[in-house]
Amino acid sequence: MSPARSTDGPRSDQTPIHVAIIMDGNGRWAKARGLPRFEGHRRGVEALRRAVRSAIEHDVRYLTIYSFSSENWRRPPDEVAVLMGLLKRFIRNDLADLHKNAVRVRVIGERESLAPDIRVLLEEAEAITRENRGLSLIVAFNYGARHEIVAAARRLAMEARDGRIDPDSIDEESFASRLDTADIPDPDLIIRTSGEMRLSNFLLWQAAYAELVFMPILWPDFDEAAFVAALEQYAARERRFGAVIKPTAVMTAS
Ligand code: IPE
Ligand code: IPE
Ligand code: MG
Repeated sequence: MSPARSTDGPRSDQTPIHVAIIMDGNGRWAKARGLPRFEGHRRGVEALRRAVRSAIEHDVRYLTIYSFSSENWRRPPDEVAVLMGLLKRFIRNDLADLHKNAVRVRVIGERESLAPDIRVLLEEAEAITRENRGLSLIVAFNYGARHEIVAAARRLAMEARDGRIDPDSIDEESFASRLDTADIPDPDLIIRTSGEMRLSNFLLWQAAYAELVFMPILWPDFDEAAFVAALEQYAARERRFGAVIKPTAVMTAS
């Protein structure tokens, strides 16, 4: 059974079940220090390790990290190669440690156009950690929300064409179950570092009721304190999901 979607209602304990992070600002971090962009990406991996630790520490159940967007292929080939290399190194170096900490790794995004060695690594990471019941670490790699949504629509259309589903039965739940994030609750909190205030094609369907926190910090500087600051902003928000959470007391004539 799929877990309760977090849009079912407000959580009482103020801790987000699912935090998603747009890890942005590696290039600017490097530029500010007169370093090549790849140095920012390299330091960004260390920030990612800190974020995973913080998520476990604060009892977040799902952490989604935007590692490479479907639009990031537009970058110079040598930068793309560095980002691919860092993903490989992260999986190779950190998988044992993640597994030891009961982290379940899942990958969302389009895999077919990735190099075979990366595909194998991603599949291995998922297979090895499948039974883990700690933090779910969802790696969005070669991910683009519009692509994901179109793919879900195509799947439904093919099932309808083949007579396996009735088009009239298509609803939000059946649509969501065809997304890469099927069985993963919607993000409660989306953090974007670097001061940019946009989603850049990240979790567009799933973000419908997410709380957005934009932070000026550049990703390589992201640490436990920044994570806690984002959690605090989240805790101070009032999530209404379109409803009236605290109806004004009905005044009765006395
Ligand atoms: C985020 O940092 C990493 C990826 C997008 C892969 P950037 O590389 O986008 O850094 P800025 O935005 O240029 O500073
Ligand atoms: C979003 O950052 C993608 C990732 C963090 C992986 P970008 O740096 O690619 O986004 P834009 O180009 O500023 O919108
Ligand atoms: Mg950027």
